Amino acid sequence: MVPDRQNRTPLFDALVGLAESRKVSFHTPGHKSGKGISTRFRKFVGSKIFTIDLTTLDEVDCLQRPVGVIKEAQDLAAEAYGADHSFFLVNGTTVGNHAMILSTTSPGDEILVARNAHKSILTAIILSGAIPRFFPPAYDCELGILLNVTAEEANRAMERHPNARILSLTSPNYYGVAADLRAIVGEAKRRGIVVLVDEAHGPHLHFHPRLPTSALDAGADVCVQSTHKILGGMTQSSMLHLRGGDIDHSRVTRLLNLLQSTSPSYILMASLDLARMQMATEGEKLLSKAIGLATDARDRINRIPGLFCFGEADLPDGGFSLDVTKLTISVKKLGLTGFEASAILNAEFGIQVEMADLFNVLVIVSIGDRRDDLDRLVEALQSLSVRGPGQRSVAPIPPPLPPMRDGFHVSPRQAFFGPSEHVPLSKADGRISADIVAVYPPGIPVLVPGEELETSTIDYLESLAGHGARIDGVLQLDEPQIRVVRD
Ligand SMILES: Cc1ncc(COP(=O)(O)O)c(C=O)c1O
Repeated sequence: MVPDRQNRTPLFDALVGLAESRKVSFHTPGHKSGKGISTRFRKFVGSKIFTIDLTTLDEVDCLQRPVGVIKEAQDLAAEAYGADHSFFLVNGTTVGNHAMILSTTSPGDEILVARNAHKSILTAIILSGAIPRFFPPAYDCELGILLNVTAEEANRAMERHPNARILSLTSPNYYGVAADLRAIVGEAKRRGIVVLVDEAHGPHLHFHPRLPTSALDAGADVCVQSTHKILGGMTQSSMLHLRGGDIDHSRVTRLLNLLQSTSPSYILMASLDLARMQMATEGEKLLSKAIGLATDARDRINRIPGLFCFGEADLPDGGFSLDVTKLTISVKKLGLTGFEASAILNAEFGIQVEMADLFNVLVIVSIGDRRDDLDRLVEALQSLSVRGPGQRSVAPIPPPLPPMRDGFHVSPRQAFFGPSEHVPLSKADGRISADIVAVYPPGIPVLVPGEELETSTIDYLESLAGHGARIDGVLQLDEPQIRVVRD
């Protein structure tokens, strides 16, 4: 039974109340409720939005020291998600991951990290000075994607590194594949290990029984969610949730105050307030519709020759579950790469997918989609299929990560900030990377500072670059260059 108070939107109401009070503003923002905004901007978006683009004022509270409507809105979010404390974030899950790692590790601490981590987990580790102990996610050669970590692999990592007191997981992944969090968290808790979950792709999980178990429901201590990626939050709006007594709430607050802007956007924060209300009051209904649309589309796509869109039953053993609102559509049997299919869908059919990789395009179905949208997708995919096979078959490539390393020659922080130089990628064999090298999307690091470059990694990067992937951390000069630790 949802408490009536979940219908409330204290922060949004306070913003509207202040906007309607028509007080004269001699404070920031300089556009003064839109009166100074460019006419072109106002003509396009309308004028109301600017009246709630406010700054820290008594009536609308202060994110750094919330005591009024922001505190109320965060408390309602905590109640809705089953957290002890929830924090509104205005720099995406990126800033939440930074606060999560920095508030739980100190320089030199060992941290167990599932290697399907987003770049923001690694940049947090660079900043903190912690030493990562990576363990690998499973890779499915057939689907051509990284799945998630298995409980066995997580247990092995905990066994191998008894000094590591923190475990960082990423679940679900970009493709919606979730790890068996209940099993992993259960074992971690038995060993007294604190569990952090990057749940960027899972702010909706808690609100529907057909979706994978959410991090907090599985017993994790902290999770960070991109409300903007999946729900009704505006871009950059995310939340961090805490549960249980193993994490110092005041340290998280301090870290967030150190990292976030002192001028947080009230529009972003109001969107979090409203997205929480929407999920708490009608989340299950809205998500049922999205799940229905996605399930129907998956069935239709699987009837199109040359295409394949995996479902939960197609996942191999490993305790994985699937957020079925994600459609990963394999186009390799059409003789196209996912990058090529994505470009054709965009240019010829006006369909923009979330991302592409070598074999697949990824489509996110959300509470914002209508049946027509999915019909258009399916029709476009049918046209793609009847064109017949492309010119070549896509060569299988090795699993997209270098072998896991237990030891680091230097910490990621030392490697990143210490003396370094650029060398051609082709001549970097045996050198220590000074940068994160990540393939976009989804931004999972292939190399982190402190790791040694091996021929297999270099070959992998060169092969992906050849297929049109964007690689961050490699300078695309005449010859690709990479920053390495100076010998
Ligand atoms: C798993 C994961 N974590 C974190 C992030 C960063 O989230 P945000 O864009 O909200 O900062 C992303 C972005 O794609 C992601 O995929």
